[in-house]
Amino acid sequence: MDGLCREYIKIKGGKPLSGVARIHGAKNAVLPILAATVLNAAENVIEDCPDLSDVRATLEILTALGCEAYFENGRAFVDSKNITTASVPFEQMQKMRSSVIFLGALAARLGEAHMCLPGGCSLGLRPIDMHIEALRALGMEIEVDGLCLHCYAKNLHPAEIRLKFPSVGATENAVLAATATQGVTTITGAAQEPEIDDLLHFLRKQGHLVFSDGKGCITINGKQPLHEAHHRVIPDRILAATLMAGVITCGGDVVLENIRPDHMESVLHVFRNMGAIFIFSQNAVRVKASGNVKGDITVETLPYPGFPTDVQSVCMAALLKSEGIHEIRENIFEDRFRVVSEFEKMGANIIPIGNKVRIVGAKALHGADVEATDLRAGAALCVAALGAEGDTRVFSVHHIKRGYDNLPQILSNMGATAVEKG
Ligand code: UD1
Repeated sequence: MDGLCREYIKIKGGKPLSGVARIHGAKNAVLPILAATVLNAAENVIEDCPDLSDVRATLEILTALGCEAYFENGRAFVDSKNITTASVPFEQMQKMRSSVIFLGALAARLGEAHMCLPGGCSLGLRPIDMHIEALRALGMEIEVDGLCLHCYAKNLHPAEIRLKFPSVGATENAVLAATATQGVTTITGAAQEPEIDDLLHFLRKQGHLVFSDGKGCITINGKQPLHEAHHRVIPDRILAATLMAGVITCGGDVVLENIRPDHMESVLHVFRNMGAIFIFSQNAVRVKASGNVKGDITVETLPYPGFPTDVQSVCMAALLKSEGIHEIRENIFEDRFRVVSEFEKMGANIIPIGNKVRIVGAKALHGADVEATDLRAGAALCVAALGAEGDTRVFSVHHIKRGYDNLPQILSNMGATAVEKG
């Protein structure tokens, strides 16, 4: 462990959860929406904005571009009237992959964009060829110079873009770029995640004419008159799934407020098979579980509405000490099983086989010092820790802070013994 990562979350496991937790706004919705605030040259207010390091980094990008951008009491404010540069600073580009969405947004607003290749969690190759192809289809010139990208939007025209895979990032970049073209662009094979719909919803509030048919076809009628926008982001379905996995792991009876079950059908289906009981009321769900998963569970990640790759590792955590033999197949990223060796430190019994893992339910897990290898891996280690005997210390907390607004506090609200130290 390096000296920069000595902060840790300490969790004392082994007791059932009870209490109430509120689901904060969705990271994967708010980041592209913040990038889209550059489009309208006006004020934007984003409500229920979680306090995440990725949100702070995005606001730093907006400030560096010349916007007035700040975060206050769960709200982000961005005034994008004065943008003074089309270059995204290197440091912020390295922090998170979603910063690549500024490519389409800045090119649409200023006619050019400059940045280096994006960073983010190490999950595999993560190329951006589909982003570049989509922008080129709209007439943008893109030069790749070593690790830097230069985009020029001189002769834009509408296009019929067909994505070969429903990439979330490529869909977002294509939509944002297409808002600057005169005429109607269609994107088929587009990602259908709820966070894409939330971005389209926000864009309509700015005055754009953007519509989804709900089946992977998005239509953009570009170059509309724009104005200020006020928007509340959707609840974070990945946070909700993480907390549900926690209840499945150690048993309990909790209420999750601010939830959209219609965004989580594939997750609810799998978690029901794992023995969880969900009782829905308006905007909330009561989650009950015994702490013992019965039967053999098989899960595979797929583009939405399939089971989300972002829930794969927390789902694995919830299976580690359950009876039976379970399989999880990862179809989105090549390298999203790094957490396995950390689970093994806690007594888990996992066999990796290519792009899948077989989990042979261990009788018990024990606390250990473990390392968050990426954002969702970090959350998964916290979930496993809830069901382990003794204390677990999860290091490299900076990964977890990219996507969870004070996870130890959220877990404490659900009756867990969880604190951040260091
Ligand atoms: C993906 C997830 C998203 C999740 C996010 C962070 C999917 C479909 N997307 O979004 O739900 O929130 O990670 O964990 O589940 N790809 C290319 N070329 C491209 C773009 C993507 O080959 O130009 C490949 C990627 O390497 C990956 C797959 O397509 O294997 C999905 O990529 P994409 O949806 O773009 O990734 P994110 O936008 O990061």
